[in-house]
Amino acid sequence: MARLKLGVLFSGRGTNLQAILDVCQNPSFPAEIALALSNKPDAPGLLRAQDAGVATSVINHKDFLDRPSFEQAMNERLDEAGVELICLAGFMRLLTPIFVNHWDGRAINIHPSLLPAYPGLHTHERAINDGARFAGCTVHFLSAEMDAGPIIAQAATPIRAIDTPDSLAARVLEAEHEIYRRAIRWVAEGRITQQDGRVMIDGAGEDASFYLPTVD
Ligand code: GRF
Repeated sequence: MARLKLGVLFSGRGTNLQAILDVCQNPSFPAEIALALSNKPDAPGLLRAQDAGVATSVINHKDFLDRPSFEQAMNERLDEAGVELICLAGFMRLLTPIFVNHWDGRAINIHPSLLPAYPGLHTHERAINDGARFAGCTVHFLSAEMDAGPIIAQAATPIRAIDTPDSLAARVLEAEHEIYRRAIRWVAEGRITQQDGRVMIDGAGEDASFYLPTVD
């Protein structure tokens, strides 16, 4: 069966990109990366993709007068590459309806919090400062509102008294890599449907809610 063609968008170090590159090395995984696209010419993730022999592209937002023309250029590049599913992986630009509507139902994002709590930046620091007892991450469909689309999978981990934003981020990041792989597999296998803003995953059982214990 043909593998689903992914377009992975990132702006920085690219560890989520790396997790996707790694799992796609397995020929039995039902998806492959058709294009790794960055808005930053110096994003370290570009080297990761090149090392894996995956096509890369840079579309620098600074080369465009406005967001719509930047996003239109991305849409064209991704369409040319035959991309069927967008995976946002640390892509640090707000997206307008030009992008969001073009990829409606065909774009997913990973966010380092248990949405709908803590959309936006500095999620771990905010959770610690609030005295929250759990942190985690979410894979969700892209929607017009930032970090707010229908939830596909989440992983939770306890926040310990000794946690710092960095220690928490490191623990959550491991879980990000795991739930992103799972979510991509489910989309690629055609097991995901949406109804009234909720996501159903055929046969996924408990796999969509993943608990990451702390290791003492
Ligand atoms: C991750 O924490 C992801 O959830 C968020 O941005 C970060 C990107 O990290 N959207 P990396 O570049 O994948 O290492």
